[in-house]
Parts: sequence; structure tokens; C-alpha cells
Amino acid sequence: MITLASELQKRKEKTEFVLNNITNLPAVPRILKETLELLNDSSVNNNELAKSISKDQGLVVKILMIANSPLLGLYRKVTTIDYAILVLGHNEIKNIVSVLSVIESFKNKTDKYLNEKEFWTHSFLTGMASKRLADDFGFPNKGEAFIAGFLHDVGISVIHKFFHSKFIEIYKQANELDITYQEAELNVLGMTHQQVGHYLIERWDFPDPLCDAILNHHNPENSVSNKTLTSIIHFADYMTQKLNIGNVSWDNNIQLNVEELGVLKIKNLEEVDDFISNYEDLYKNQLESIRYFN
Ligand SMILES: [Fe+2]
Ligand SMILES: [Fe+2]
Repeated sequence: MITLASELQKRKEKTEFVLNNITNLPAVPRILKETLELLNDSSVNNNELAKSISKDQGLVVKILMIANSPLLGLYRKVTTIDYAILVLGHNEIKNIVSVLSVIESFKNKTDKYLNEKEFWTHSFLTGMASKRLADDFGFPNKGEAFIAGFLHDVGISVIHKFFHSKFIEIYKQANELDITYQEAELNVLGMTHQQVGHYLIERWDFPDPLCDAILNHHNPENSVSNKTLTSIIHFADYMTQKLNIGNVSWDNNIQLNVEELGVLKIKNLEEVDDFISNYEDLYKNQLESIRYFN
């Protein structure tokens, strides 16, 4: 299917117009909002924070699950929220509550075109793996890696929720014609899910490197503000496909850009294979622990 540049531009403008007019994003749940406010206030102590979080047992369970994640690699079992705050620290708890807020705000219906649980499992696994990669490669901002990894495909969720009939069209084209999801996205929307996600994240005022990682997670060579972060997300995402763990259909044709992995000091495919095989058990165990997430 050949699409003229002018036609593509028209579709892009139309999609951007709809995105611009999404003013009714669901509100963040009250306890999450309160907790985020407390976390933004540096004078708040651990007790106050634990008290606020404890009002929502669902939140407690999820934070404990994340604190005990295999990819996080803590040595002692975390069984109480007070201990979780102590070992993870305020920033880490803030990251976790932020991503949980995004899940809540984007709660979507599962249909035959997108399985909600599968989507968030992929997002969460990529987020945890990105954080672990950041750790292994000595990238200082692990929290940013977690959030960027978690949100890398948020554009998919946006398309499914706000452009539902277009989502179905993309799904059909990708499954019935011999083209990739990204080609189908461009055919239908004039934009890829990376661009849609980026558009939204920018509107939410996320920091530049995070926006860049979301925009370029399939093409880290285009990254401008932080190649290392973007390459980490690219690699974590690719590993879900390669290991066939927590992978999703729209990522089926991800091509690993080994050259860009140079910033992570991985030089060739052999090293990539070795590296990935070392992560296999971590991914498997992590997937097992995510089962209790939703
Ligand atoms: Fe993607
Ligand atoms: Fe992905």
C-alpha cells in the first residue's frame, strides 16, 4: 500500500486534532492523588506516607508485589508497607504510585483486538526490565528508566481508547495484509503509536529524555536527548519478543539496533544473545509475580 506524503500529513493532522481535543482524560483516583501530593512534599515522614497508602489495600498489595519483584533483586522479603517505604525510599514509591495512577486512568475494556491485562503485563515487564538494565549498565536514573519502560507503548492504549474504530482497522490491516503494525498505524492514523504516546506524554509535561525514549523506542538511532535511556527501553522491549515472555503482537517485527547498544557497551549479536540468556530466568520469574498484579 503506497501512501502519498501529503495524504499521510493530512491523516496526521486529523489525528493530532482529535488528540488535542481529548480533554476528558479520566481523573486520577483520590488516594493515589493524595499519596502523590504527600510524596511531593519533602517534609512528609514515612509514618504519614504509610498511613495514607494503607487506606487503599489494593495499593498496598501492588506496592508489596513490586517491592518483591525478582527484577528488583532485593534480598529480604518485604511484607509491610512501612518496610517497603524504608527499603525503596520516597522516590521509588512515587514512581510506583505514578505508574499505578496511569493504569487507573487508562482503564480500558478488553476486547478481541486488545487484551488489557496482556498490555499492562508487557508494559510492566518492560518497565521492570528497563530499571534492571539501568542498574546493570550503571545508568544513574533508574526511576526514569522504569517509567519510560512502563509507558513506552502507552500510545497503543490511547489509540484503543480514543480511536477505537481506527484501532480495529489497524489490527485488521496488520493481520490481513502483509504489513507491520507500524505501517498499518501510518496508513490509518498518519502517526505511529510512538508518536501518539509522545504527543500525550509531552502534554503531561514529562521530562525531555522520557519523551524522547517513548518517541524513539523502536528507533534509538533517532534519539537526541538521551540515547542511553532510549537504548535501554529499546533493548528491554526487544527482549520480551526474543524471550517470548510478556511479548505482544504489535512488537512482532521489532528489529534490534545492535549498533545503538554500543552506548550500553554491547558490541555484537553474540554478546546480545549471551546477555539475553542471562535475563531469561529473571523475566520468567517476573512474569510469574505479575500474575497477581491485575
Ligand atoms: Fe512500541
Ligand atoms: Fe513494546
